[in-house]
Amino acid sequence: MNRLLELFASRPDQYLSGEEISRTLGVSRSAVWKQINRLREEGYVFDAVPRVGYKLAGKPDKLQASSILAKLKTNKLGRPLFLFDQLDSTQNEAQRRLSEGAEEGSLILAEEQTAGKGRLGRSWHSPPGKGLWMSLILKPDIPFASAPHLTLLTAVALCRCIRRLTKIEALIKWPNDLLVAGKKISGILLETRLEEERLVSVAAGIGICVNLEQADFPAELQDKATSLMLAGGEPVDREVLLVAFLEEMEHWYELYLREGFAPIRTVWEALSTSLQRRVAVGGVEGMAVGLNEQGALLVRLDDGRTVPIFSSNIAESTPAG
Ligand code: BTN
Repeated sequence: MNRLLELFASRPDQYLSGEEISRTLGVSRSAVWKQINRLREEGYVFDAVPRVGYKLAGKPDKLQASSILAKLKTNKLGRPLFLFDQLDSTQNEAQRRLSEGAEEGSLILAEEQTAGKGRLGRSWHSPPGKGLWMSLILKPDIPFASAPHLTLLTAVALCRCIRRLTKIEALIKWPNDLLVAGKKISGILLETRLEEERLVSVAAGIGICVNLEQADFPAELQDKATSLMLAGGEPVDREVLLVAFLEEMEHWYELYLREGFAPIRTVWEALSTSLQRRVAVGGVEGMAVGLNEQGALLVRLDDGRTVPIFSSNIAESTPAG
């Protein structure tokens, strides 16, 4: 982080005189003044009181890699972090990075996506500065058939993190949509690469509508989608949410690698809005009663048979090169 910002962060809500800043940072008063002006241009707000000093009164709502990394306490997830002002899709960038050998934990984030991808070939609306649009690279040593576990695990981590941080009672709609009061707040898209029946890598694409206003959604999503800000009545700090999500995700991911799918299944079932309801999925209709060990939704048909339905959410990407 910028040393001047670090200094203000270490003395929250305090006025610091120009002299004190220049002494602490070992730079001239005019260099301090120039830096403050440069930060103002980036959207930082400083209260300046003559003969008292400056107080940091506001930060730009722009994600900053250095600030995120300074707060992140994960072992692996979120490192290295690649942050872009604009991308076509973080999933596309993840594939490009994977082709160059990106390591597990790498995170690709974009303030805006111009061609955000949803599942089933749909597009994903990703306006600038108001959401978290990201792709997380994972390389678990698991069979390809276990890929659905990762989708469900990501939904559990995100749902738990939102509940903990905002008190919003998000629920999971099978397989991995997050809903609040029946409206979608987040979507997850997994793209996998495989070799001989084993997963080589996964790009877990996660979109969270954080601070979108109602008018930010296109007409066709007006009554289907919402944001954490609309649902909770106040803006959510995207950096705080991102860091909390990565930490929660790492907790569930490590638990999964140690103990398998069973603990994830229990929590997914407890957070699900799909169970004990009639559903029409995968060409069948019936009562959703739970998940099986592979992560398929178990649907009890009207004739009494129970059938597993696998998510059509997982796209297989073609490894380049
Ligand atoms: C869905 O259809 O529900 C899945 C949406 C996934 C959207 C996210 S946003 C970040 C990542 N990049 C993309 O292009 N898509 C995913």
